[in-house]
Amino acid sequence: MQEKNYIAIRNSQINYYKDVGLYYIEGGSFILYKPPGKLITELRLNEERHPTELYIHQNDRITAIKELQKGFNEHIAKSIKTGNVVEVKSTLCSLVEETLAEPRSGTLQALPETVDVLVSGYSQKPEVLKIFASISFKDYTTVIHSVNVMALTLGFCFYSKLSLHETKRLGLSALMHDVGKTEIPDSILKASRKLTRKEFKVMKRHPKIGDFIIKFKSGIDSGIARGALEHHEKLDGSGYPRGIRHISFAGQLLGIIDCYEALTNEERPYRRAKSPLDTLKLIKQDVEAGKFDRKIFEKFCYSLI
Ligand SMILES: [Fe+2]
Ligand SMILES: [Fe+2]
Repeated sequence: MQEKNYIAIRNSQINYYKDVGLYYIEGGSFILYKPPGKLITELRLNEERHPTELYIHQNDRITAIKELQKGFNEHIAKSIKTGNVVEVKSTLCSLVEETLAEPRSGTLQALPETVDVLVSGYSQKPEVLKIFASISFKDYTTVIHSVNVMALTLGFCFYSKLSLHETKRLGLSALMHDVGKTEIPDSILKASRKLTRKEFKVMKRHPKIGDFIIKFKSGIDSGIARGALEHHEKLDGSGYPRGIRHISFAGQLLGIIDCYEALTNEERPYRRAKSPLDTLKLIKQDVEAGKFDRKIFEKFCYSLI
């Protein structure tokens, strides 16, 4: 049996696969269940008349991710219309999770459409974004962090009355700011203790990796990569990866929102989440120390109210 060549798919997602074939196992072999180009019929789905475990072929992986993204994008647009915020957020998290599984294979291309849908859907009701950002799921992951940073960024943009074009660019930048973390080993990313100096050095590579992936592997305007590259830089030059003092607006804004989001959540199991107010007080100390821009920080505070 060539198990390595087949990947199990989630039951909740089988209705999204059209262009790829689906397989099931019988007598130790993988047998084609649904040929490419067809959907599993509504009837079979409703009556659950399909094998409980279905698989795709490894070679179809990227096509499968793109089909999922398309389905998720449509589902997000529908859920925004019906006002189901929880559904929007959980579908968005699934979409980002699938996207970040293969970010070097052109899968990031689906994200501008996702952000467009969210910006158009919420520009008239920005208050929903506050609910959106506060919905929490069981495990705190890079995906949830990125989605929350995006929601807070859109909230900032709507409060600041930035143009829709600029809002979409910053939202996209926010959603992808930690894409470089996909290439940091899990042993470091999910460590349940403080990182050693050596591990932190590895962790600090993620802005440059993210910059590279967005610039050369995503097919997205390379200007969007600045947020990924500069979100850990500080105005006094104490940040990384380059220790620069002239930081793009995207880099400065994402730096503040990234800190706020991580501190208000249990980013690491050994560190308790802080209240929004305590977090803002901490960030204010960094503003006083010349690390963050005061005006951007103040606007961000107002955008949270
Ligand atoms: Fe980061
Ligand atoms: Fe981050």
